[in-house]
Amino acid sequence: MDRRSTEAAEVPLLWRFFERAVNGAARRAERVLPARPAVREVPRTQQVRIVAVEAPADGVRGLRLASVSGAPLAPWQPGCHIDVFLPSGQQRQYSLCSDPLDLSTYRLATRRIADGGGGSVEVHDLELGSELTISEPRNAFPFVRSSSYVFVVGGIGITPILPMIQQANRWGSSWTLLYTGRSRASLPFIDDLIELAAAGEGELHVLADDELGAPTPEQLRTLALSSRPDGRMYCCGPAGMSDGLRRLAAESGGVPFHFERFSPPPVTGGAPFELEFARSGTVVTVGAEQTALVAARRINPATAYSCQQGFCGTCKVRVLSGDVDHRDQHLSPAERQEAMMLCVSRGRGKVVVEL
Ligand code: FES
Repeated sequence: MDRRSTEAAEVPLLWRFFERAVNGAARRAERVLPARPAVREVPRTQQVRIVAVEAPADGVRGLRLASVSGAPLAPWQPGCHIDVFLPSGQQRQYSLCSDPLDLSTYRLATRRIADGGGGSVEVHDLELGSELTISEPRNAFPFVRSSSYVFVVGGIGITPILPMIQQANRWGSSWTLLYTGRSRASLPFIDDLIELAAAGEGELHVLADDELGAPTPEQLRTLALSSRPDGRMYCCGPAGMSDGLRRLAAESGGVPFHFERFSPPPVTGGAPFELEFARSGTVVTVGAEQTALVAARRINPATAYSCQQGFCGTCKVRVLSGDVDHRDQHLSPAERQEAMMLCVSRGRGKVVVEL
């Protein structure tokens, strides 16, 4: 999955139902969950070759990557992602969705987003046999051992969850997967999931909009809250889905909730500020609901970014002056004295950056 692609169109009906399902609960359950631990960049890279391509769903391309040297790839755990350095110079992050016990290849999958940032389109155009540079795997979505799990997934969000389900089966844990999307044909790896459910203590619920219509709020609520008190809930999908479930989890009495978004979080609590690009002297106003990254890309579309969630470090820029409201999970206190992450951090008044 291109974890950072905007796929808001994939489950629009579901968003609305989640919002309704949690309406009211949100006011009672404004519990703040602990922030995910900071993730540090790991500079080590691996040279890989595309050794197989697949089409696990409509509009989705899967790639199998093997080391150019023939050596085993770096080890990883469920939830890990890699940075892929594309030939155009863009850097994108993809969850690994193969078996962590098999280090002969990595598998990733991405949905083609024609009007996205261009990363998914480029991946879809890569040819079998092409060589790529990738980072070693990093884990910002760790899978914690438990006796039972509820997984809630929107479309391509299945990629980090698939290895988690394999691992749950290995541990003998029970699981329920609520798998949502526009249509069954748009949902990757359904056959793998059916096999995994049969091989372990799993239940697969596919909720495709074009079959039974959108699920009712009560269906979603019942399934989402079916987590046992000693279980854990994992979600990967659009921001509306993960935010709604986070509140439901809090309402249910504190079932541990883990999530990963594949779209940037909405800007909240923002006020307009000015961003000055020192090299050109250009000044742009960043709107209250806009990110500095969006403003920067208006001036320079080649401005680097990847996760758009403040943890990968790609959009880091040097700050020459100004008061920054740091909202990332990447920079140390010392680094915050002289840098900011354009994708999430904001300014007060005017901030001058070295761009
Ligand atoms: Fe990843 Fe900004 S794009 S930290």
